[in-house]
Amino acid sequence: MKFDFSSVLPPAATELAHSWDHLYWFLFIVCVVFFAVVMVPLAIFIFKYRKKPGRKTDPIAHNTPLEIVWTAIPTVIVMIIFAWGWLVWRDMVDRVPENAMEVHVVAESWAWTFQYSDGRIEKNRLVVPVDTPVKLKMTSKMGDVLHSFYVPNFRVKKDLVPGLYTQVFFTSTKVGRNIFFCTEYCGLGHSAMWGEVVVLSKPDYQMWQYGKDVPLPEWIGVGGLAERMKAGEASGLKEKSLFASVSAESAENMKDRGKILFRKMGCVACHSNDGSTSIGPSMKNLYGSERLLAGGESQIADDNYIRQSIENPQSKLSKGYEDKLMPPYPGHLSELELNALVAYIKSLQ
Ligand code: CUA
Repeated sequence: MKFDFSSVLPPAATELAHSWDHLYWFLFIVCVVFFAVVMVPLAIFIFKYRKKPGRKTDPIAHNTPLEIVWTAIPTVIVMIIFAWGWLVWRDMVDRVPENAMEVHVVAESWAWTFQYSDGRIEKNRLVVPVDTPVKLKMTSKMGDVLHSFYVPNFRVKKDLVPGLYTQVFFTSTKVGRNIFFCTEYCGLGHSAMWGEVVVLSKPDYQMWQYGKDVPLPEWIGVGGLAERMKAGEASGLKEKSLFASVSAESAENMKDRGKILFRKMGCVACHSNDGSTSIGPSMKNLYGSERLLAGGESQIADDNYIRQSIENPQSKLSKGYEDKLMPPYPGHLSELELNALVAYIKSLQ
């Protein structure tokens, strides 16, 4: 009987999954080889040098060549593992193509919210087109705990932290439904904190985006769980088509929502959006620029900086605005509103 190695791991539904799998099998083989290298001589020596009447062992101080070999070889191997792991990890979080589609993810105990730039909101279900780079900009609700987003079929996993944006990136190569889990123990409802990533063909995705319901594709793998969910579907427990909660046409996109908030929250009283000087720094061309801070250091105005400056403005005051203190806004805005406000500020280029 031939052993099917591909059945050991979940199906691979991204390019990245193959990269992780190669590293996984390398680690596995290294472990098997070293297990044998240690255990086989151990078994032989136990037998060969067992206690016998009249036999006395010579005292052994050390053996320099042997010690050099058993230090050098493992050092090389762990450095290979480090470098290889770092390269694949970088592909997962950092090497995001310019044209990647961005979706915001907000985790809270114990649910997931996906916020699209055109304003659509999905609960516990992320819908993406096939063969399209997708960047997830993720955070956990303020005051909540750590969660972690894990899609086994994609081999993608990243923590979500309150008050901070983290990101992860993938390109799914297979149409189908993929289960995802929270993989950071987060309390009572942790085991129920899962959902699905639905990967649609590009035409189907467009239909869905504009509010048409499209047939749900098949589940991809994940052993017994997918089977149980299929059974649930057969008995009518799970819906068969995918409905868009709000269509792209009717939704208020994130930028526009942010613009309204900018007015409503009173930001506009101190910050202009056209470059003119006011009580606070202008928001025009702020995103991506280098900010000189009151303390003398500088900082690139990225998503995390903008977010932090809204929630806790005093933490990184801009030079020249030290005495014009803005009140902190934690808790005044929901995560979705905060994302929208950042999107608006980002758009003022
Ligand atoms: Cu959220 Cu575990």
